[in-house]
Amino acid sequence: MAHKTLRTMPAGWNLRWPERDHPTGDGKRPPGPTGARRMDRQELLDQVRRIRWYHRIDLGDGIITPGVLNNFKTLSRLNLPEDLADKTVLDVGAWDGFYSFEAERRGAERVLATDSYSWSGPGWGSKAGFELARRALGSHVEDRDVDVLDLSPEEMGVFDVVLFIGVLYHMRDPLRALERIRSLTGDCLILETHVALLRKRRPAAAFYPADELNRDRSNWWGPNPLAVLGMLEAVGFREAQIVWGPHSLPYRATSAAWTKVRERRPFLRSLDNSRVVIHARV
Ligand SMILES: C[S@@+](CC[C@H](N)C(=O)[O-])C[C@H]1O[C@@H](n2cnc3c(N)ncnc32)[C@H](O)[C@@H]1O
Repeated sequence: MAHKTLRTMPAGWNLRWPERDHPTGDGKRPPGPTGARRMDRQELLDQVRRIRWYHRIDLGDGIITPGVLNNFKTLSRLNLPEDLADKTVLDVGAWDGFYSFEAERRGAERVLATDSYSWSGPGWGSKAGFELARRALGSHVEDRDVDVLDLSPEEMGVFDVVLFIGVLYHMRDPLRALERIRSLTGDCLILETHVALLRKRRPAAAFYPADELNRDRSNWWGPNPLAVLGMLEAVGFREAQIVWGPHSLPYRATSAAWTKVRERRPFLRSLDNSRVVIHARV
């Protein structure tokens, strides 16, 4: 079998790690990647209110988009290098673009945001948030409406850093998706994902034929961390390291008890669910 050399990474590599968590949008940062305010505040507020947001994005002037996701918390788990100067970054499944704009703010030379389902598919999302935030921030992030399986290094290029945040479990065919991701990764993949079956001691994945995960029919798989590492190996990544997660058993037990009361979900199934962040290198 190919690719039997996957090993965990030595601590630290050629990108610089952040020394602190990301600020939570307290208005003290410059308004955006370029620091340039391009729109009148009231006009911007009116436009922000017309959009259904997934991400909370600090547009400056005290305006933070009302996203449903606490992406500042996820960002603090990613170990995204503080300094991305001279790096090229691909953000796959970018939606409103929070991580793309953050990569640009950290100095990335080129950032490409891609998505399809939320930008032009049947979900409740749209591309309007990404486009408004890009204008408001005076950002140069590029965009491409493309399915993960149609990503192509010949058409889009190869990137130093690829972000694949919260997307893997939406893939019907995760191995083929990771193969595509691998083909565009020049140095490092930063992968964040839902994981399940945590007490299984061998690679395994839960399958969600309907809306078992978060009542969302676009979720298909809950691999355990060993399965994610195995898939990364199978598609040709040389090294991989879990840099965050999964949550501790006491944390998961509290959360599973809460989910059982609130949503009548089976305690033991929720107990086995969490998230991880993995850095993988080619
Ligand atoms: C849970 S959201 C995560 C968004 C963002 N990366 C984050 O972590 O906040 C999943 C994203 O994956 C995108 N997505 C799902 N299936 C896709 C596909 N086949 N091709 C491209 N994007 C896809 C969705 O449109 C959505 O933006």
